[in-house]
Amino acid sequence: MGLQEDIARAAELIREGRLVAFPTETVYGLGAHALDPMAVARIYELKERPSFDPLIVHIADLAMLQQLCLAPDPRVLLLASKFWPGPLTMVLPKSAAVPDIVTSGLSTVGIRMPGNEIALQLIKTSGCPIAAPSANKFGRLSPTSARHVLKQLPEVDFVLEGGKAQVGIESTIIRLNEKGFEILRHGIITREELEKWVPFHAEEKPADQMLAPGMMKSHYSPGKPLYLSDDERLMQMNRRDAGFLSFSGQDTHGYGLVLDMAPGGDLKEYAVNLFEGLHQLEEAKVAFMVAETVEEKGIGLAIMDRLRKAAWRYSAEQH
Ligand code: TXA
Ligand code: MG
Repeated sequence: MGLQEDIARAAELIREGRLVAFPTETVYGLGAHALDPMAVARIYELKERPSFDPLIVHIADLAMLQQLCLAPDPRVLLLASKFWPGPLTMVLPKSAAVPDIVTSGLSTVGIRMPGNEIALQLIKTSGCPIAAPSANKFGRLSPTSARHVLKQLPEVDFVLEGGKAQVGIESTIIRLNEKGFEILRHGIITREELEKWVPFHAEEKPADQMLAPGMMKSHYSPGKPLYLSDDERLMQMNRRDAGFLSFSGQDTHGYGLVLDMAPGGDLKEYAVNLFEGLHQLEEAKVAFMVAETVEEKGIGLAIMDRLRKAAWRYSAEQH
C-alpha cells in the first residue's frame, strides 16, 4: 500500500476509536481520537501508563486550538505563529470538549501542532485532534523509528511508517503565567528562542513540586544499566564490557563499542541520535552502557534531562 492509502486507513481507525502509532518530528506518538474517552483509555492500557499522567493533544490547524481551549491568550497565538508546526507544546486552560481522561482531571491541556507532514495529514484526514503520548511502554525509551515502536508495542492496531524522527527528543513544554512563560520540559526549542517573543518568568513554587505530572526522576529507562560519563564508579568497571555514546569523540579508548552521536560536533545531532543510540546499545552485546555528558545550557539542557532520567535507576544516589 502507498502512503496515502496508509494515512486513509490510519485515519479510519482513529475515527473508530482504535490506536495508531504515527511519526512526528520529535518521537513517534501513540495516537487516539482525543475527544473519545474510550479510545484515550486504550492508550493508558497499552502503554501501562499511570492515569495521573496527562496526554498531549495534536492539532493540524488553529480551528482545532479554538475547539480545545477557549479564547486563547494573544501570546499563545504569537508563539503558535512562530513555532508551529513544530516541537513546542503549550499547556493551556482547556475547554469542556476535552475529556478529563486526556488531562488526568487537570483544568489545563497540553497542545501542539507537529512539524511532520504525515502527522498533519493524519489529523486532517481523521477530522479530529489526536491525543498521543510517545509510543513506548511507560517509563521506557522513547521511539524515534517505526521499528522502535514495534519493539515495545507490537499489539498496536496500526503503525504509520515515517522514517527516522528529525528532532529525536520530545517537544519543549511551556506554560504561561501573568508575567511570561515557564518551561515544564526542555526540548530543542530553547528558552533563548522563546524569549525573543515572550518574557521568561518562572513562578516561585515549593522545590519538590512536580511541574508536569509526568516529570519523574526516573524515565526513559533502557533495558540495561546506563551510567553518565562523569560517574566516578566507572573507574572500577571494565570499559570493554560497555557501549559508549560519544559526543566529543574524546576518551573513547577501551570501550567495547563506541557510537558516534554527533559526527559534525553539533548538539542537535546528539539530540537527534540520542534515543536511537540508546536503543542500539540496549540491543547490542554489551553488559552496560555509558553516555557522554554535555554542558547544561541550550539544547544541552534537554539532552541532560533525558540522560539523567534514563540513568536514574543506576545513579550513585540510588546505590
Ligand atoms: O514531542 C512530544 O511531545 C511527543 C510527541 C508524540 O508529540 N509526545 C510526548 O508525550 O512526549 P508524553 O506523553 O510522552 O509526554 C507528555 C508530557 C507528560 O510528561 C505530561 O505530564 C505532560 O506532557 N503534560 C501533558 N499535559 C499536561 C498538562 N495539562 N499540564 C502539565 N503537563 C502536562
Ligand atoms: Mg514519553
